[in-house]
Amino acid sequence: MKKTILALDVYDLKKAEKLIKETSPYIDIYKVGPILFLQYGKEIIKIIKDNGKKIFLDLKFHDIPTTVKRSVESAKELGVFSLTVHSAGGEEMLKAAAAVENKPKIWAVTVLTSRITTPREVLKRARLAKSCGADGVISSPLEISLIKKECGKEFNVVTPGIRPVKAGDDQKRVTTPETAVKEGADFIVVGRPILEAVNPADAAKNIYETTLIK
Ligand code: C5P
Repeated sequence: MKKTILALDVYDLKKAEKLIKETSPYIDIYKVGPILFLQYGKEIIKIIKDNGKKIFLDLKFHDIPTTVKRSVESAKELGVFSLTVHSAGGEEMLKAAAAVENKPKIWAVTVLTSRITTPREVLKRARLAKSCGADGVISSPLEISLIKKECGKEFNVVTPGIRPVKAGDDQKRVTTPETAVKEGADFIVVGRPILEAVNPADAAKNIYETTLIK
């Protein structure tokens, strides 16, 4: 499976559809977050499926356990490949999410990559997520190898904060796509470096080529 997940952080459904068509040779999974989902939930899910691609639903559930469990069940009905819950929701909430039968992959957010934290804190959250039955975590590029070492090869590490060149935006803990994959990331989540490129297809292609495991 291709390593890049494209974050469809756009307001416009037509723009999202165009991005999917242009980048489809290089991307298998598209991330749908609140920006698009709140306006065009089922429509965007259908467009991604009709293009033969998978959905990563990034709504970062963080609520009482029953609500999170029911939210995971709803997401399962939509047919998404994976979804996020927030590890800050705690043990009971994480277990409730992971207990849903035939659930999508549950990826727990450790600490947002726009925030400064310590590897120790990220690792603590990763261990908690694993012990509660999550399939993996979202973590910054700086903790990938540490998490893989502690939680094992099968435990997914999904990494945002990817910047092909140094960018002065709000992501604090960043690395290049190539380094993230070499460190062991199962997937890298890329938004603005593709969305805001002059040519998004070329940007996706470049990232795809640098992340091919040789
Ligand atoms: O534009 P950029 O490449 O920074 O996009 C990163 C994407 O990953 C955004 O959609 C953001 O919401 C998401 N994300 C993140 N950090 C997390 C979890 C998700 O940046 N811990």
